[in-house]
Amino acid sequence: MQTGKPLVAVFDTKPYDRDYLTAAAGVGDLTLAFHEFRLDANTAFAAAGAQAVCVFVNDEVHRDTLAALASQGVKFVALRCAGFNNVDLKAAKEFGISVTRVPSYSPHAVAEHTIALILTLNRKTHRAFVRVRELNFSLSGLVGFDLHGKTAGIIGTGKTGRIVAQILRGFGMKVLASDPYPNTDWAVSHGIEYTANDIIAAESDIISLHAPLTKETHHLVNREFIAKMKKGVMLVNVSRGRLIDTGELIEALKTGKVGSVALDVYEEEEGIFFEDLSGEVLQDDELARLLTFPNVLITAHQAFLTDEALAEISRVTVENLRNFASGQPFLEGTTL
Ligand code: NAI
Repeated sequence: MQTGKPLVAVFDTKPYDRDYLTAAAGVGDLTLAFHEFRLDANTAFAAAGAQAVCVFVNDEVHRDTLAALASQGVKFVALRCAGFNNVDLKAAKEFGISVTRVPSYSPHAVAEHTIALILTLNRKTHRAFVRVRELNFSLSGLVGFDLHGKTAGIIGTGKTGRIVAQILRGFGMKVLASDPYPNTDWAVSHGIEYTANDIIAAESDIISLHAPLTKETHHLVNREFIAKMKKGVMLVNVSRGRLIDTGELIEALKTGKVGSVALDVYEEEEGIFFEDLSGEVLQDDELARLLTFPNVLITAHQAFLTDEALAEISRVTVENLRNFASGQPFLEGTTL
């Protein structure tokens, strides 16, 4: 480590990132240089003097970015998130750059936010809150449905999907699930049934996406999938925006085929989510259209945002940065 120079350039940071990372780093051996802007090929120069960079979900760690980082001597990319679809791992290997992520920080945080979205969207508490504050005590348009007795489809039964499935079982829902690597013991013990996506589409009243973004899951919810869904289905996505073809979703909302949608992620969220654009003209026409539907609820990628999750993300990230600096192996299960 070169004393006096930042060891780690930390991109795309907000006050809460800085607070938790600074607390985890404590006093001493790590120098964290925080940047508010995201990492991409044009901003990679901001890592000058650093041996490691720390990034989040919407930083673009593509080949050209990695080339720029490597040319400046960066040897380590620490992702402070679970998903890694924004990193070209093949290029990182070629440039001799190690990459780690935080595979699990709080699946409960993400699952509980999913449930918050489902309950809010169904019982329209967000609309009721605004109405009551305006002294409008009318209930028209606020009719929901009982979750009890309905069917939920969970696509992806990893850490998050499993918790969501179990909570929904607690509401008395029938739960169907799909995953290329089914966990049958878990399913049997919780009364959950693995089946094909086509059956999930045809039978579910609520479909919740918990699969990573891969070539296979890109636009998993497309025109064909939507055609197989029940009319009026509730669709929930807290995973990655590109799992859904937004244009097709808008069409399905207009016809009523899709009854309601909750999104914590959006196909083109980079540069929009996490930012305060309240004084600006929104340039994204599909997001603007989505925001006009009364039956669409959007949060800006906040499912992870709990005290426990932020503390754990920072603990694992800082520990890996220390291990990198001292030539120790990275924490088990974090290397990509
Ligand atoms: P995980 O890796 O524990 O589980 C993902 C599951 O999806 C695995 O069981 C995998 O086999 C399955 N899967 C892979 N391809 C599939 C396919 N084609 N169809 C159905 N299932 C498939 O990941 P975890 O922690 O449950 O998170 C899931 C995703 O949620 C992450 O990849 C990430 O993109 C996203 N995420 C979003 C957050 C937010 O704040 N909105 C926070 C954390 C994760």
